[in-house]
Amino acid sequence: MQVPLMDLKAEYAALRPQISEAIDKTLSSMRLFLGPNVQQLEQRWAELVGVKHAIGVGSGTDALIIALKAMGIGAGDEVITVGWTFIATIEAIILVGAQPVVVDIEPDYYCLNPELLEQAITPRTRAVIPVHIYGHPADMTTITAAAVRYNLQVIEDGAQAHLARHGGGVVGSLGDCGIFSFYMSKNLGGYGEGGMITTNDDGLAEQIRLLRNHGYTSKYEHEIIGYNSRLDEVQAAILNVKIEKLQWGNQRRRELAAIYDEALADVPVITPAVAPQAEHVYHLYTIRTSQRDALAAYLGEHDIGFATHYRMPAHLQPACRPYGLHLAELPATEQAADEVLQLPIHPYLSDEQVEYVAETVRKFFG
Ligand SMILES: Cc1ncc(COP(=O)(O)O)c(C=O)c1O
Repeated sequence: MQVPLMDLKAEYAALRPQISEAIDKTLSSMRLFLGPNVQQLEQRWAELVGVKHAIGVGSGTDALIIALKAMGIGAGDEVITVGWTFIATIEAIILVGAQPVVVDIEPDYYCLNPELLEQAITPRTRAVIPVHIYGHPADMTTITAAAVRYNLQVIEDGAQAHLARHGGGVVGSLGDCGIFSFYMSKNLGGYGEGGMITTNDDGLAEQIRLLRNHGYTSKYEHEIIGYNSRLDEVQAAILNVKIEKLQWGNQRRRELAAIYDEALADVPVITPAVAPQAEHVYHLYTIRTSQRDALAAYLGEHDIGFATHYRMPAHLQPACRPYGLHLAELPATEQAADEVLQLPIHPYLSDEQVEYVAETVRKFFG
């Protein structure tokens, strides 16, 4: 049996008539940027996340850059985040001219360890970016309490955690703003690039809207220097079809995760833990074992897709060396890098496929 890590073709096959119709309608109108599809998506996303404003942008990376810019963060400022993330989180901080400061993760949940936050704060710290990694929310209760004490802005990186919840609230509504990616592999993904920023702050929302479109206010008038980061209407049309499947898809991911949890309970691997106040959306199903590389090779031999995010954490990437990030001591991050392995999880996977993957993992351990 073949089990791919993800299966975008299966999803497309299921939604093809609606997606084709939505694309055709958009192309027939030739309204291609920031039109009715984007507005519809923004309204729906704001409703699902539970915020006043959702603003579509070109990608999750742009969303991070624009959120930081909108907050006036730049040269001379420090922004605290994790090394355990995709490079974009750190890249955005560097691209606005600020200095990233990386802290370690809680080994159980792979998210920013809130106990280490305060010691990383200096008079230059302006913001913190917790990353809701793999679909598990960071401890927003503790992080936002510290942010209030030290007057820091909080940008939630929810790129991997669409509609995950913490303490009753949806991620993206818990900090000063939230960012999301609609890259094709995400729980909600388009067939190109796309992203979204959420906030309850009217002033910030206005600034973000200006920044995403060259500071454009009216024909021939540009109030501030901004970016070309307009979410396009074709992506929004596709996302408007797929968004209605997101809650079902997240629920299906939780069901499949439960099958894995049970089937792997007596196998010597660590399955994903869920914090007491958290609701996971299993963007990725991450297990841990000191025999990671041998297990990965064994899965490959059995036609089972896998990934090892993050074999090289973001702060240890060559690109980050000039900024001194490799000097940070993050033992939990470095240990996770040697041990984590992602097993296939997506809504179009069958129970049998998941059972087969779990059985193959079991066989590897004899
Ligand atoms: C945690 C995290 N942050 C930010 C991003 C950037 O999103 P995008 O690829 O849409 O630019 C990603 C995308 O993979 C991500 O996983």
